[in-house]
Amino acid sequence: MTATKEIVVLPGDGIGPEVTKEGIKILEAVCKRHGYKLKTRSFDVGGASIDRYGRPLTDETLEACKEVPAVLLGAVGGPQWDNEPKDKRPEAALLGLRKELDLFANLRPIKVYKPLIDASTLKKEIVEGVDIMILRELTGGIYFGRPRLIEKTENGERGVDTMEYTTDKISRIAHKAFEMATNRAKKVASVDKANVLDSSRLWRKVVIEAAKQWPEIELEHVLVDNCAMQLVRYPKQFDVILTGNMFGDILSDEAAMITGSIGMLPSASIGEKFAMYEPVHGSAPDIAGENKANPLATIASIAMLCRHSLDMEEAAQEIEDAILATLEDGFRTGDIYTKSPKEYLVNTSEMGSAIMKHLNPDLQPGTFL
Ligand code: IPM
Ligand code: MG
Repeated sequence: MTATKEIVVLPGDGIGPEVTKEGIKILEAVCKRHGYKLKTRSFDVGGASIDRYGRPLTDETLEACKEVPAVLLGAVGGPQWDNEPKDKRPEAALLGLRKELDLFANLRPIKVYKPLIDASTLKKEIVEGVDIMILRELTGGIYFGRPRLIEKTENGERGVDTMEYTTDKISRIAHKAFEMATNRAKKVASVDKANVLDSSRLWRKVVIEAAKQWPEIELEHVLVDNCAMQLVRYPKQFDVILTGNMFGDILSDEAAMITGSIGMLPSASIGEKFAMYEPVHGSAPDIAGENKANPLATIASIAMLCRHSLDMEEAAQEIEDAILATLEDGFRTGDIYTKSPKEYLVNTSEMGSAIMKHLNPDLQPGTFL
């Protein structure tokens, strides 16, 4: 009997459905190639779920996500839901999934593909060879701290968010960072704002404590403002960047520009029991439905899904190799197109098909162009 791999797909809003479609196409191909049957179940999430059920994340969807080893999410959000109250905004689905599935470790690899060196706004010698893993804590910090409110006062309204971290949350993500560094360049840069914030002072103390169990890893502490500067000054100094929820959110968008486009960045959000994979980019409502979006971040997320959740390391490698080969062939979506004569501007589905051709050489050349 053929073994089955099962995932839940949450296409979401904007370009989400277009890019997840290409991702699934690729996952189907590698499953077939490695002798597995792929079973997918799809659910609305974010704005799509608000429109249909009045809520960004239904219990049914959440329960379905708990029944599979991995979830693939496209993107959520769009201007039509911007005025909803905060628990009814599309983003609440994302935060709810992270919290309910306890996806505390967010992996955002910042890897420069050689053919895209000229697509970055930074100089070639700065970006060449960059290979950073941003490890962002995803279930704590200011995103979830209490109290959070807007209240009336004598001086007008007062808005409050709470930045908080507890020892256990810091410790588990720190150990994850050290563990990841052992298979890489064995360096961890822990990013905080310990010169000002108490939550950061605790962060630093707990990271130092955890480091004692990983003597082979070199640990440094970098203040978040300095880290933002170092990322554009000399990004090659970094291997694993370990940081909290909000600093990780900001630094990962900044680091995306090293790679040329946020459309290239995959992510994995991993907990003790569950995992979710999503491109780092948003729902890009301005180009939604136009078949223009770059599906490579989603396809690279599928590689991470194969590696971390489906026990298909070989398939993960094949997908990553196919992405590189496709870029070497010159195929570019609009976001990474530099108008060089060696490049061909393609749309979302053509890019997906170009990747497929490298995974399945039996396809006739020229089947899609
Ligand atoms: C991200 C996004 C989300 C975040 C938003 C959409 C809630 O920016 O995944 O980086 O802030 O975490
Ligand atoms: Mg972000």
